[in-house]
Amino acid sequence: MILVTGGAGFIGSNFVLDWLAVGDEPIVNLDLLTYAGNLDNLASLEDDARHLFVRGDIGDGDLLARLFATHQPRAVVNLAAESHVDRSIHGPAEFIQTNIVGTFRLLEATRAYWGGLAGARREAFRFLHVSTDEVYGSLAPGAPAFAESHRYEPNSPYSASKAASDHLVRAYHHTYGLPVLTTNCSNNYGPYHFPEKLIPLVIHNALAGRTLPIYGDGMQVRDWLYVKDHCSAIRRVLEAGRLGETYNVGGWNEQPNLEVVGTICRILDQLRPRADGLAYFSQVAFVQDRPGHDRRYAIDATRIERELGWRPAETFASGIQKTVQWYLDHPEWVENVTSGAYREWIGRHYAAGAPA
Ligand code: NAD
Ligand code: TYD
Repeated sequence: MILVTGGAGFIGSNFVLDWLAVGDEPIVNLDLLTYAGNLDNLASLEDDARHLFVRGDIGDGDLLARLFATHQPRAVVNLAAESHVDRSIHGPAEFIQTNIVGTFRLLEATRAYWGGLAGARREAFRFLHVSTDEVYGSLAPGAPAFAESHRYEPNSPYSASKAASDHLVRAYHHTYGLPVLTTNCSNNYGPYHFPEKLIPLVIHNALAGRTLPIYGDGMQVRDWLYVKDHCSAIRRVLEAGRLGETYNVGGWNEQPNLEVVGTICRILDQLRPRADGLAYFSQVAFVQDRPGHDRRYAIDATRIERELGWRPAETFASGIQKTVQWYLDHPEWVENVTSGAYREWIGRHYAAGAPA
């Protein structure tokens, strides 16, 4: 079996669902259930003996030691993190705690467990760390996309904390020989995406008749990847990645934010036209820019394609169509996650049209 952390979050729950859809190897899913973790995402696994959910912190060494001793995983896939740049600007402490200290404790517990393995089980063990392209910083227009050799230049507390965790993972390989793999992925979108992030926020606000807040001029560029393609990349790297190596994962799909929002609006205009006949794009409102806002991210995913034969299955056109349809089909999921803590965040963050 494998130990997945953060498996109740956006990417984690997609990963758990896809893993159990394509195979039968059981998962122990360790997740703290912060505001971003949601067991509704995993409701279809309620009676599935292949999935064991444990609520807990990746920073809890005693709990980790017990989980390793009891379940003897053959691999760890670390997806647990604080993940929202804007939240990291308002309050970085949790990012330091989970992304850096938490990853350190997880590495320590893994090292202790792996150190006790022998023979084929020790050989086969893997620790896969899921990270982000944001560790590389911001690209100038026209500059080559991020390759794995690009230097680390994180600009937000979020990306700095992820960069620190990547360095720890690397060090545990070089110092202790821990069999690690790291993936640095571009922006994901798809089902179960918490509506604090651009794409689900825009879908949700559009349908609710609220403004669609565009930071600055909306010309910041991101490289969008459908979440299920990210999950297949993680599976592939876990299966065949070279030990100690990092793999950049991306969709070959750079788009300015305004273009992304325009596409979502056009799909909604077709699938769920506004009662007054106006275009959803009329709800766009330019708001104050995010401090330190990275202008452009772009991933060069050549290595994972050349070495491991992975390429995304979805184009942005097909992935975004599926995503908008998923949100239209799951109003109860959106309703559940947009209560309480969510409303408090939105109220605080977008007060007077300012993002910070
Ligand atoms: P998310 O915020 O949706 O989910 C994070 C999950 O981790 C939540 O379920 C939360 O409850 C859990 N968690 C938080 N702190 C924890 C702790 N201390 N112990 C155990 N569980 C904890 O994030 P996501 O978008 O699913 O991202 C998952 C991973 O992928 C993160 O490491 C993130 O940096 C990385 N990543 C995300 C993207 C993206 O576009 N979302 C892109 C590249 C990489
Ligand atoms: P986000 O989904 O927060 O991902 P990240 O900051 O990790 O790339 O934001 C994606 C882009 O959308 C980013 O350039 C910030 C921008 N953005 C807005 O313009 N308005 C918003 O309300 C949000 C949440 C993001």
